[in-house]
Amino acid sequence: MTTPQQPRAQWLGRWGFVLAATGSAVGLGNIWKFPYITGEHGGGAFVLIYLACILAVGVPVMMTEIAFGRRGRGSPIDAVRRVVTESGRSSLWSLLGWMAMLAGFMILSFYVVVAGWSFAYLWKAVSGGLAGASVDDMAAIFAANNANPLNLGFWSTLVTLATMLIVGKGVQAGIEKSVRWMMPGLVVMLVILIGYGMFSGGFIDALRFLFVFDAGSLSSDGMLAALGHAFFTLSLASGAILTYGSYLPARASIARTTVTVAIADTLVALMAGLAIFPVIFANGMSPEGGPGLLFMSLPLAFQAMPLGGLFAILFFVMLSMAALTSAISMVEATVSWLVDNKAVSRRTAAWGTGIVLWLVSTLAMLSFNVGADWTLAGRHFFDWLDYLTSRWMMPLGGLGMVLLAGFVLNSATFRDELGLSPRWHALWLFMVRYVSPLGILVIFVDALGIARIEFGAHWPWLAAVLVAISVIGELASPRLRRTLAG
Ligand code: PFF
Repeated sequence: MTTPQQPRAQWLGRWGFVLAATGSAVGLGNIWKFPYITGEHGGGAFVLIYLACILAVGVPVMMTEIAFGRRGRGSPIDAVRRVVTESGRSSLWSLLGWMAMLAGFMILSFYVVVAGWSFAYLWKAVSGGLAGASVDDMAAIFAANNANPLNLGFWSTLVTLATMLIVGKGVQAGIEKSVRWMMPGLVVMLVILIGYGMFSGGFIDALRFLFVFDAGSLSSDGMLAALGHAFFTLSLASGAILTYGSYLPARASIARTTVTVAIADTLVALMAGLAIFPVIFANGMSPEGGPGLLFMSLPLAFQAMPLGGLFAILFFVMLSMAALTSAISMVEATVSWLVDNKAVSRRTAAWGTGIVLWLVSTLAMLSFNVGADWTLAGRHFFDWLDYLTSRWMMPLGGLGMVLLAGFVLNSATFRDELGLSPRWHALWLFMVRYVSPLGILVIFVDALGIARIEFGAHWPWLAAVLVAISVIGELASPRLRRTLAG
């Protein structure tokens, strides 16, 4: 049992953290979710906004969160409380930590269902259940896998058990080691799939779909989805990165680690897109295939390539591992909070959390079969978990974090923790004070229908407003800081 007085466990140097944070960031978000939501939101324009969000919001927020974690040395709730108290500010800000912890838990509740798909497909690949299937068969196989709650429940329960077993064993054991071989393996598999895609006849269409910017194809909802996905894919505002940051040794550079993780994560997502869309176009499938897109497309590619059966097994092993290294990071916040505050052992905390998780995830799993009619405002429980976290909780939580860091806390806190040169520190401050918050707000204003913003045409205006607000903000900032701090 760890108490707050005891020194906290730490990663084995900077690379331990990079591996664990990459393990958290790279997961189903990159390989399952990114391609399918790109498909739903029309391709290139969505990809561009997503990349802009990673750069303008994701990277600054990630640096901020890691700094919070390392400074506060605790779960999101405790770390934020400690850091704000250190600056003499209201501990009510720790509500941000509560929201993050809840978001991580809610995400995991549907994530285990998708990870369960990956395990189920691994089993199908091993047992030959995917061999010889046509495009239509693939859709039928996916539907059949979902239709039986006992089958689907079996796989998501298995994922829940595996997650809790690993988490119960502690932070370092396993995580760093598995990421070390799994991540390169996944990249090799994606390269093979992209190589296959180049000769499948759909590659040019895929490139055009992913990288040709067509402003007209972008809806307000697509913008919010891109923003939410930037948070999701980097594991931000959901407790994971902040808690992992609390195990980061004092010497490691936060900026360098953040950039490394963000680049690795983005490359894997783009590679997944380049692996999946050629298969979609070559087989005359629709990019709007929804959450089943990955599972209905890649098995077709494996079938058509030499040694495809073996590659399919390897691919689903790695996808399942990538899912697990992300899943464990989502409960790390809750478990470390319980251990630090409730005088329970890590194992008890993990299993306790696991039981609640199992109940909620079972409800999410039922959205695909017996609960197919249980909808509220057109969304199933599974969709609600995704919608509330990605479109609301994470962007708003991230907004709170950057405002807190930019305007409310003593500037020495982040200067110490980030340890940047004055010029880089000024850039980070400019990002967290203006670029990230305004980026998030503009997308919200647009998505809530308060004003319709045509990004293609209005960007000079938006840039001018950003500059104006930054200048006014800098002039008024001591006063603003006093007001926000109450
Ligand atoms: N970043 C993970 C992925 O892309 O699959 C998902 C995720 C992990 C979200 C951890 C949130 C989190 F706290």
